[in-house]
Amino acid sequence: MRAGQKIKEILKTSPTGQLVTVMGWVRTFRNNQFIALNDGSTNNNLQIVVDFAATPEITLKRITTGAALRATGTLIASLGKGQTVELKADTIEIVGDSDPEKYPLQPKKHSLEFLREIAHLRFRTNTFGAVFRLRNSLAFAVHTFFNERGFVYMHTPIITSSDAEGAGEMFRVTNLDITNPPKDSEGQIDYKQDFFGKSTNLTVSGQLEGELAAMAFSDIYTFGPTFRAENSNTARHLAEFWMIEPEMAFCDIHDNMNLAEEMLQYLIAHVLQNNKEDLEFLSNRLEEEEKQKPQNERSELSLLHKLQFCLDNKFERVTYSQAIEILRESNHNKKKKFQYLVDKWGVDLQSEHERYLVEKHFKKPVILIDYPKEIKSFYMRQNEDGKTVAAMDILFPGIGEIVGGSQREERLDKLELRMKEMGIPAEDLSWYLDTRRFGSCPHAGFGLGFERLVLFVTGMTNIRDVIPFPRTPKNCEF
Ligand code: 4AD
Ligand code: MG
Repeated sequence: MRAGQKIKEILKTSPTGQLVTVMGWVRTFRNNQFIALNDGSTNNNLQIVVDFAATPEITLKRITTGAALRATGTLIASLGKGQTVELKADTIEIVGDSDPEKYPLQPKKHSLEFLREIAHLRFRTNTFGAVFRLRNSLAFAVHTFFNERGFVYMHTPIITSSDAEGAGEMFRVTNLDITNPPKDSEGQIDYKQDFFGKSTNLTVSGQLEGELAAMAFSDIYTFGPTFRAENSNTARHLAEFWMIEPEMAFCDIHDNMNLAEEMLQYLIAHVLQNNKEDLEFLSNRLEEEEKQKPQNERSELSLLHKLQFCLDNKFERVTYSQAIEILRESNHNKKKKFQYLVDKWGVDLQSEHERYLVEKHFKKPVILIDYPKEIKSFYMRQNEDGKTVAAMDILFPGIGEIVGGSQREERLDKLELRMKEMGIPAEDLSWYLDTRRFGSCPHAGFGLGFERLVLFVTGMTNIRDVIPFPRTPKNCEF
């Protein structure tokens, strides 16, 4: 069946009359003569010229938008504009028909909302072709980045019995009969009879298990799916998303920030170098979209410039306390333009605040550190001031938080005390506390939300458009 060539490679070759075979899906068919064929290797189609006099009528009728076909012929220089080579077909074989009356993708512009409803077909559009090739490229580069630096890729469990973030936003995993679950003597559901003999859930983060591995391999990273049952119906939240979580032993918050910055710049540089064509397509797409907006809402930089900008500028490092001062004193706050006004130290930052800092005040990526301990997780290292922890969030323009991380509390007594204050039973995490009992050391790590990175790099505006099959509240199609 195979023995064909990728269109991306064919378009790079010079036409010497060589014989080639290609397979793909018809985008358009003009004048009973010109097929634009796409195989997903690039957004550029290969033009196939059909000798319509020599092709049976019945075959011509079956060359419709969406149909799968195989074509063999000679590669010649193209006289038409927009391409240098084209295929003069000797044979055309329809591999799979597509009824043009019923095929939902017409050769015209469809809205992203409509395409989300037919996510099983949207891969066949230029926009999603570019987005998912970029997603692939970024995933590949994540592994390259860490492997070049001697990090061990660790697979942490998907099903777990712990709540790593302590936020209680978990999906339960059970095979009990939910219409009639077994009860214990107190009338509560008896999870001892459940599959694992205890209550279990889908992981919200691989961090805690990652820390165990870092205490042996020094530097590890995870890259896997994570699940959050938070009811946030926003353009930046998914119930199922992919996270990259490095964890480094003998490492403090500053090493952690440096690694995160280096990683983000590496990933952006990688796509600028390797995915130029798709980025240019998306950059132009975004520019068209911006033109629909009023002048004062348009972004100043094109997508390509925005990416380059992140490479050329060091991320600004700012403490939470400094950020609160900036926000409190801002005209935005004084004129009550924030939905949530910033009045006192200790409040959690909303995404409107994060975006103000990045887009209006500093105008570049920002790393915020030293947050109040009350608004952060139990495992973060307590600072000397008794009020803050060594947390770090990286904020990106248009995105807000893209990375969340911290130096971990490596001192057993302090960690136990904090867990007690927060009502986290030590028995449940005795395995975690063991790392603090046996050869504990300063260590740190962070989590990069993969879809937020893909959002940033592609310039898309809704997170549902950068994961193939998004899972969000009240939506689990496909
Ligand atoms: O800030 P978060 O909750 O941090 C952790 O889970 C830590 N255990 C990470 C670590 O230190 N190893 O999540 C990390 C990142 C966020 O910055 C964000 O980019 C992304 O994960 N994220 C989400 N992405 C999409 N949808 C959601 N619902 C997300 N929640 C978090
Ligand atoms: Mg966070």
